[in-house]
Amino acid sequence: MKYALISDIHANLPALDSVLADIAKRGPDATYHLGDLVGYAPWANEVVARIVEQGIPGVAGNYDSTVATDYKHCGCRYEDARQEELSHLSYEWTRAHVSADTKRALAALPFRIDVRALGGHLSGPTLTLLHGNQTLNTVYVTEDRSDDFLTKMGQGVGAHDGDVVAFGHTHKPWHRVVNGVHFVNTGSVGRPKDGDWRAGYVMLSIGAKGIDAEFVRVEYDIDRAATAILDSTLPHEFAAYLRSGGTSLVAA
Ligand SMILES: [Fe+2]
Repeated sequence: MKYALISDIHANLPALDSVLADIAKRGPDATYHLGDLVGYAPWANEVVARIVEQGIPGVAGNYDSTVATDYKHCGCRYEDARQEELSHLSYEWTRAHVSADTKRALAALPFRIDVRALGGHLSGPTLTLLHGNQTLNTVYVTEDRSDDFLTKMGQGVGAHDGDVVAFGHTHKPWHRVVNGVHFVNTGSVGRPKDGDWRAGYVMLSIGAKGIDAEFVRVEYDIDRAATAILDSTLPHEFAAYLRSGGTSLVAA
């Protein structure tokens, strides 16, 4: 079975559409999103509508669950006062611009999805989809986490040897195997932070030969995204941030 996993689109419609076109050419068995559909760019309603119209199931990122519930902040990380200010500006902008339909769609997203690659009538690998970790969608599961941390995460999910736990949230793609459990961070479609501006997603294969996670990067119309940010009342720093692949601010 082949699964396309897309995460952290963050209201970047040109990036999403380029990724969906690339996925359509490859024809996986299913496509899932791993949350954070909105925030930081101006197409929150359009991105959610595209996901809904294409029938792409997925889980709630911290941005989705907080916008849906009018929580007091987005659960985003920041390392200085300016980043904190930008984070709040983006969150308030997004809350002010989402439609009732968008909020309803975000509110309906589950925290976690378990996919049985062989259909569930046979024992076989389980693919678990999360945004952060198994208890909070705000936990950053970074590549430098210890084996012990990932072992506990696998146990918390109920994963066994040969299973896959996939998540996003950090916007940096990676794949590690600990005690036979595959941990796959999908990276980000609309706001990568690994220095590569191109939209990123994962093509995951689960089969007799084992597990393969291919990290795909797709060029998109970044000028359109940057111009739309500059033409909006969102913080203009977000345009340079996209162009730099998430390196123009230390973190956001
Ligand atoms: Fe995110």
